[in-house]
Amino acid sequence: MSSISAIHAMSGVDRFQKLVDTIKDCAIFMLDTEGHVISWNSGAERLVGYSELEILGRHFSCFYTREDIAEGVPEHILNTARQSGHLETEGWRVRKDGSRFRAMVIMDPIFENGTLFGFAKFTRDISLKIKAEQDLLGAREALRNAQRMDVLGRLTSGVAHEFGNLLAVLRSGTERLARADLADQDRSDSQKFLIETIDHATSLTSQLLNFSRGQPLRPEQFDLIDRLLAMRPLLETMLGDSITLKMQLVPELVPVDTDRHQFETAIVNLIVNAREAMIDEIGVKDCVVTLTVGSANEIPEHLASLPPGGSYVTISVSDNGPGINKSILPVIFEPFFTTKRQRSGAGLGLSQVQGFARQSGGDVEVSSAIGKGTTFALHLPRVRRRIVNPIAIDTLPPSYAEDCELSGSVLLVEDNARTADSSLALLEDIGLKTTWARNAEEALTKLQQSEENYDLVLTDVVMPGMSGIALARTIGRRWPQKPVILTSGYSNELAAGHGGELELLQKPYNRKTLLSTLQRHLLAQ
Ligand SMILES: Nc1ncnc2c1ncn2[C@@H]1O[C@H](COP(=O)(O)OP(=O)(O)OP(=O)(O)O)[C@@H](O)[C@H]1O
Ligand SMILES: [Mg+2]
Repeated sequence: MSSISAIHAMSGVDRFQKLVDTIKDCAIFMLDTEGHVISWNSGAERLVGYSELEILGRHFSCFYTREDIAEGVPEHILNTARQSGHLETEGWRVRKDGSRFRAMVIMDPIFENGTLFGFAKFTRDISLKIKAEQDLLGAREALRNAQRMDVLGRLTSGVAHEFGNLLAVLRSGTERLARADLADQDRSDSQKFLIETIDHATSLTSQLLNFSRGQPLRPEQFDLIDRLLAMRPLLETMLGDSITLKMQLVPELVPVDTDRHQFETAIVNLIVNAREAMIDEIGVKDCVVTLTVGSANEIPEHLASLPPGGSYVTISVSDNGPGINKSILPVIFEPFFTTKRQRSGAGLGLSQVQGFARQSGGDVEVSSAIGKGTTFALHLPRVRRRIVNPIAIDTLPPSYAEDCELSGSVLLVEDNARTADSSLALLEDIGLKTTWARNAEEALTKLQQSEENYDLVLTDVVMPGMSGIALARTIGRRWPQKPVILTSGYSNELAAGHGGELELLQKPYNRKTLLSTLQRHLLAQ
């Protein structure tokens, strides 16, 4: 008899038994209404270790761990299957030899003419699957850790490298200044050079803070198209004669609410990158950078971190340069990643762009093809409201000559004696009378004693005890007419958006910024 005709010759019950026995990696068996085993397949024997003879009539709780039995899990499972008509669960089960395995269990009650007859039970060993999942998770975590260490290593050596160079310049410059025989012109050149170096260090710190999103944004509403048009001459100069700048802008107002200065820096960083990428290509083809503004109401899938339903505007900067190698695409936004060591690139441009975009509630993405070019798309949340009274820097009082002096008295609140010394000297240098308070509490006592002695309070933000923000708010309540200006290099409080209503003077500040910040208050009095 052929095997097919042998199967046909079997009764339905035999055929079913054959089927159930053939399944070797699953236990398929039946329980009576109380939970005693009344049928057993070879898969069950393989999985749990009991032969049919050994197990028939035994209560199915013998497959459960001692802890589960103590907690009444077997009864609970029977009751749930009985009441809900179906049960699927996962848990630890015990073999005949006492070893445990992770099981996926399905249990269904069997009814005959409406009466409960027993339960059908299906158990599968999923230990290997779980282990494979855990191994995969472990491998991913290990990879992530390795990547984190890699980024951290690059970051640390980048900071050490950049600041090491700057400190070397500052040291030799200061030593030079100390020389008595230095000619006046050399002294003035050295001073200028030192100041430029300090400014460079300041902008590096600010770029790093941007990346860590620790730099508080100073949001203002402005029209993006207006800004880009105003920046056009600057961008064209940056690109030079050999690269054409094309602008494709929508003919409407595109209001955004973000830090205008940071926005401009991000655009400049993208344009400079495009130029540097194409500069070697000159003569080979027509080099073009295209700046496009278009709405992006559809958020790309990989930017799912952006809140859905938001309205975004996309500013794209495309070049037809050499493109970016696939192998470095995942790391180009990391701080200090650069392929331009010879050109003394710091590798901070794109980290500023990304930090700014994310802190503004948007994101940036890149697409690139070797030999064809690169496009960076900056997505920023769009403001629905009409632009009301944009506070543009241009509308502030005209800047004053550097040798201008002010009059008045300033209460300086600063916990660091060295910083206080230099700030007091700078304040006195521009003609102001000064008083120093070491902390907020001391400042309040001084104001309490004679509030009219101080025309303005200039306070550090991070101080032991009461913070500068709390101090400014207290002064605002007690002496509402007293101008208070915060000054800080970095503060968690500011980065978290606190004190947004208060004026901030970014540290380190120079004479010019100090003067133009204070004059608005002192001249107004
Ligand atoms: N438009 C582009 N075309 C090709 N490569 C690019 C482009 N923009 C960025 N890159 C690559 O990404 C790297 C990182 O860019 P990023 O702006 O962060 O740093 P950098 O330009 O090297 O230095 P920095 O901007 O601090 O002067 C660059 O070194 C370059 O390899
Ligand atoms: Mg760059």
